[in-house]
Amino acid sequence: MWKGRFTQDTSSLVQQFGESVSYDWRLFPHDIAGSIAHARAQKTAGLLTDEEFSAIEKGLLSIRSDIESGQFEFKTSLEDIHMNIESELTRRIGAAGAKLHTARSRNDQVATDTRLYCRAQIDSLIDGIRGLQRALVDRADTYAASVMPGYTHLQRGQPVTAGHHFLAYVEMLERDASRLHDARRRLNVCPLGSGALAGSTINLDRKAIAAELGFDDVTTNSMDAIADRDYIAEILFAISLCGVHLSRLSEDLILWCSAEFAFASLADAHTTGSSLMPQKKNPDVCELTRGKSGRLLGNLVAILTTIKGLPLTYNRDLQEDKEPLFDSIDTLHLTLAVNTEMILALQLREDVCARAAADPMLLATDLADDLVKQGVPFRQAHELVGKAVAASIASQTPLDQLDLRSISEQYRTDSAEIFDLSRALRSRTNPGCPNPSIVREQVKRWQDHLGSNQAS
Ligand code: ARG
Repeated sequence: MWKGRFTQDTSSLVQQFGESVSYDWRLFPHDIAGSIAHARAQKTAGLLTDEEFSAIEKGLLSIRSDIESGQFEFKTSLEDIHMNIESELTRRIGAAGAKLHTARSRNDQVATDTRLYCRAQIDSLIDGIRGLQRALVDRADTYAASVMPGYTHLQRGQPVTAGHHFLAYVEMLERDASRLHDARRRLNVCPLGSGALAGSTINLDRKAIAAELGFDDVTTNSMDAIADRDYIAEILFAISLCGVHLSRLSEDLILWCSAEFAFASLADAHTTGSSLMPQKKNPDVCELTRGKSGRLLGNLVAILTTIKGLPLTYNRDLQEDKEPLFDSIDTLHLTLAVNTEMILALQLREDVCARAAADPMLLATDLADDLVKQGVPFRQAHELVGKAVAASIASQTPLDQLDLRSISEQYRTDSAEIFDLSRALRSRTNPGCPNPSIVREQVKRWQDHLGSNQAS
């Protein structure tokens, strides 16, 4: 493609080192769409005849179907997907193919293709997130009123409902989807026409090209357009954070499925056995999800590190953007799909959860709140209940069976009702609480928002 000024062929080691077609081949549908839009603008500008444009379009479409059916032979000697397609086009249609690269550089071409690829992938990642949200809402619906201990510091804190716990992850995933959506909005501007870095003396209708490719607008600074990889960093961040959320969910499930907790069980289909210990049922999907979140974070750090030292505009380092991008997108797709299936089949052991939540200590805060309702200042109420807790531990008497009045006359004579768990949950009536009826309202809200209960 550049043989004019060279007297030597590129070393085969340099070809091996520098090729990107082994992975950027997957930009092909976007590269072809971009080239057709570019060629159409060339026709409008009088640079191509109608016949030449038709030959280019037909040629590109035939290359696309050959790639789709696995019949296209990629050549690493042609470095990347862009040159593979262009060179094959010229081989197929002759002279007209050689006109396609007028007023274009691989720099604006790769930036355009990658934005189009990211846009499509964001849409399907959001679908994947929606699927997992629906699965979690399904579990929240089933277990809306199932009581379990809620933890801080991994110490039992206060009772919650399992439905509330599942919906916490639905909230996190909603933010993840909205971050991806936000990145999509920002990336949807067309860099074509920025050329190598400084535009072109040959003016094509940039707005028409952008419109054909579904972009909202065109970029407004050619140098920034060529150098910009913010959209990749943003997507990799949104993916990393989603991976971190899934990792936390995994950690909860790993704990819940341990013999120590025994709060939940995963289907056999989503666990593995041990080749040595016949009794084992391991939560490998959760552990792999937790492990893969590390890889997602690594990809984010990789792209940020690649960009940070680069002077404007294009530098070949930028070719290193694609492997972390593709890897993170593929990894999150599969992670979401397998977690969706696993969550839908998850069974809560409601009896074990209820037994764990039955510890009256979990309602110590409610006891203090009750004193506050009798007019005791909270700090004093906290201390009075602290004394009761100490007495309960020292005398090995459950908190709900202590003679609280012997600790303080300020306790009500009928404070035993405080220890009624379902009453305790029902009395949390403020928005955002684990009260079963609030959880049911939230389940309904999410079902309306997410559509069909059928996880995709
Ligand atoms: N394969 C290159 C990449 O992915 C395409 C752009 C090459 N541009 C250049 N000036 N060498 O970044």
